[in-house]
Amino acid sequence: MTITLGTPLSPTATKVLFCGGGELGKEVVIELQRYGVEVIVVDRYPDSPAMQVAHRSHCVSMTDGVALRTVIELEKPDYIVPEIEAIATDTLVELENEGFNVIPTANAAKLTMNREGIRRLVAEKLGIKTSPYQFAETREAFDAAIKEVGIPCVIKPIMSSSGKGQSTIQSESDIDTAWDHAQQGGRTGAGKVIIEGFIDFDYEITLLTVRHLNSSNNKEVETSFCEPIGHLQVNGDYRQSWQPQNMSSSALQKSRDIATMVTKALGGRGIFGVELFIKGDDVIFSEVSPRPHDTGMVTMISQDLSQFALHARAILGLPIPNIYFHGPSASSVLLVKGKSTQLSFQNIDKALQQENTQVRLFGKPEVAGERRMGVVLARGETTKIAINKAIQSSKSVTAVL
Ligand SMILES: Nc1ncnc2c1ncn2[C@@H]1O[C@H](COP(=O)(O)OP(=O)(O)OP(=O)(O)O)[C@@H](O)[C@H]1O
Ligand SMILES: [Mg+2]
Repeated sequence: MTITLGTPLSPTATKVLFCGGGELGKEVVIELQRYGVEVIVVDRYPDSPAMQVAHRSHCVSMTDGVALRTVIELEKPDYIVPEIEAIATDTLVELENEGFNVIPTANAAKLTMNREGIRRLVAEKLGIKTSPYQFAETREAFDAAIKEVGIPCVIKPIMSSSGKGQSTIQSESDIDTAWDHAQQGGRTGAGKVIIEGFIDFDYEITLLTVRHLNSSNNKEVETSFCEPIGHLQVNGDYRQSWQPQNMSSSALQKSRDIATMVTKALGGRGIFGVELFIKGDDVIFSEVSPRPHDTGMVTMISQDLSQFALHARAILGLPIPNIYFHGPSASSVLLVKGKSTQLSFQNIDKALQQENTQVRLFGKPEVAGERRMGVVLARGETTKIAINKAIQSSKSVTAVL
């Protein structure tokens, strides 16, 4: 198969439409722009990060299937790239059946937007080890499920991300607040929750896994891996990530085997963030994003082709003969708290005084509450040095509301 790329804004254009335009999408858009791809970003609010670097954009509620279909039929993209979880995925399935190309597949987007879909596939169909789990829709079923799974356990709305609505039950006195918190934190309001047994892991990783066309014949899909990424989560949201996470060769091999099975079951081409808990040589599957992963922002400094560049190549059907790794690296997020629509940042110069550091500001138009507005990247002789450098640099940046 030969790959043809056209001229943007002309009849030969290769068009990619993003459903969601956050900071991860922004970087993929930049990578696609480098190939002269015509990029359209759809999100619910204007001036989202990816919209600011796209050819054009549409503001639409992406959970509204009719509105989403209207935009896609108007734009007729060669590829549809879901960037967030909360999308009318049934519409994506229909559009795929009608001949549109969804990255990696419409079914992958559908299964992973709901914790129940992916959990049942991985644990029950593929037989991969996960935490023990139950689902509950009512308070009575919730209480029964907690008895079944046992305390401590982790509660999450099945439709949520970035730790929203998530809490850990350490003792019976936490049950009421965990239920209330989950009912308020779900994407679509009250609803079903998952009760997961608490895994006392040694560390957790994201294994970035890319399904792309084989470099020699450009026909079959092959699977490549990035070095494992370790990360620290606070309240279910990531604060620092580093690469490589040191792990035993046995745990790494098991992780790659699990990632291969899960991503193969989801199918298609693109990058996936496979989240795994590691205890000794034991590997427990947590969840997977069929798209770039927030902890994978570290690859913007650690790899010659970042996860975003890899995604772009995989989407377009271009080869990935190797993934060059520069060495120990880390990322630390810039979280801003408060309320503002005219935020400014000071001391970026200070943050960049150390060697081998970089800063990304996402350009989000608004902060209300706590929001990730940027990230600091660093390389060092060891991951520990890189992490400290990234934290130090991120601390020197100040946000003016
Ligand atoms: N069963 C569990 N046992 C122990 N820790 C857990 C468990 N489930 C989740 N966690 C912790 O909470 C973090 C967030 O969980 P999870 O990835 O399921 O939530 P999320 O809302 O999808 O977050 P994100 O969208 O950022 O990936 C995990 O990375 C892990 O640190
Ligand atoms: Mg996660």
